[in-house]
Amino acid sequence: MREIVLSGIRPTGKLHLGNYFGALKDFVRLQNEGKRCFFFVADWHSLTTLEHHEKIRENTSEIIKTYLSIGLNPNKCTIFVQSDVPEIAEIAILLSMFQPANELSVLPTYKDVIVKHPENNNAGLLYYPILMAADILAHKATLVPVGRDQEIHVRVAKNIVRIINNRFGNILPIPQIFEKETIVVPGLDGSGKMAKSKEKKNTTIDLIDSKKAIKEKLSRALTDPQRKKRNDPGNPFNCNLFKLHELTSDEDIVKNIQQGCHSAEIGCVDCKRCLTDSIWNLLTPIQERRKNITDKDIQNTREKGAREARESAQKTLKILKTKMGLSS
Ligand code: ADP
Ligand code: TRP
Repeated sequence: MREIVLSGIRPTGKLHLGNYFGALKDFVRLQNEGKRCFFFVADWHSLTTLEHHEKIRENTSEIIKTYLSIGLNPNKCTIFVQSDVPEIAEIAILLSMFQPANELSVLPTYKDVIVKHPENNNAGLLYYPILMAADILAHKATLVPVGRDQEIHVRVAKNIVRIINNRFGNILPIPQIFEKETIVVPGLDGSGKMAKSKEKKNTTIDLIDSKKAIKEKLSRALTDPQRKKRNDPGNPFNCNLFKLHELTSDEDIVKNIQQGCHSAEIGCVDCKRCLTDSIWNLLTPIQERRKNITDKDIQNTREKGAREARESAQKTLKILKTKMGLSS
């Protein structure tokens, strides 16, 4: 059976290298392997954090533009916006009837947000995994490429499928998380992962950053804290930026940096200059493609995607409604 791939990103800010290596790069690969792919913008999910409302529309277009500029092709995959497909909300209501309520409030993803942002305690946040299950099950997705932080939500979707299939026969496939080497791209300030929704500025390298901006951001970035002077030998594995070298630089450059840092032959300034070039080489073709994408292209992609996604979701909705005793 042909694998069905589905993934989404919330429109909460500009996409960065963490999103690229943690998600987007796989999207392109899976599309090019000929799998049936759905990639979307999770705008309803972004409302759960109740900020940036005035930016959601703009961020949504920006994500579609990024999808196109990294090489996703609307003729090879379906690119859509969640709120353009109302069937997903209807499916979510139906799925919620199978989800034990007490399990939602103990999910670490929910608790984390509540601890950090108590003002954010809205029912939409509690409902987040059910909406995500609806995204996945609407298209009977079998493969869900997401970072480690989202694994628990895919597990909720799997459980809902098991309960539904026990009740009604095997009507839905069990989605699997896309297994790969788990990549976490660190933020430039050394305080955890690179993240677009973080309040701190300049901890991300965005896919639309200019070479000058990359250079400036890297010049301020934290390196091995033990290496205080130029002549001190450094430890690349204790350096925030070495991971970025491993992801963006050629193998022999990575080897040189590693040895040069250990022996203090290379200083942090040289290392950062080299990293700027590697990142810029990666981003140049993406930014070149981006220049040719018009507002019309974005609109056409969105409309075509909505038609395809609605058609696909309607089929699942019909099955669920029929099985659950509603008129379909
Ligand atoms: P952010 O944390 O910047 O708000 P999202 O939560 O919207 O990003 O994540 C979108 C996708 O990108 C998810 O699959 C997530 O796991 C992945 N991702 C985000 N940041 C990183 C990172 N620093 N390293 C690896 N993957 C990441
Ligand atoms: N929750 C995901 C994130 O924060 C985004 C998302 C919403 C998603 N629905 C999804 C990802 C369905 C994969 C499948 O990154």
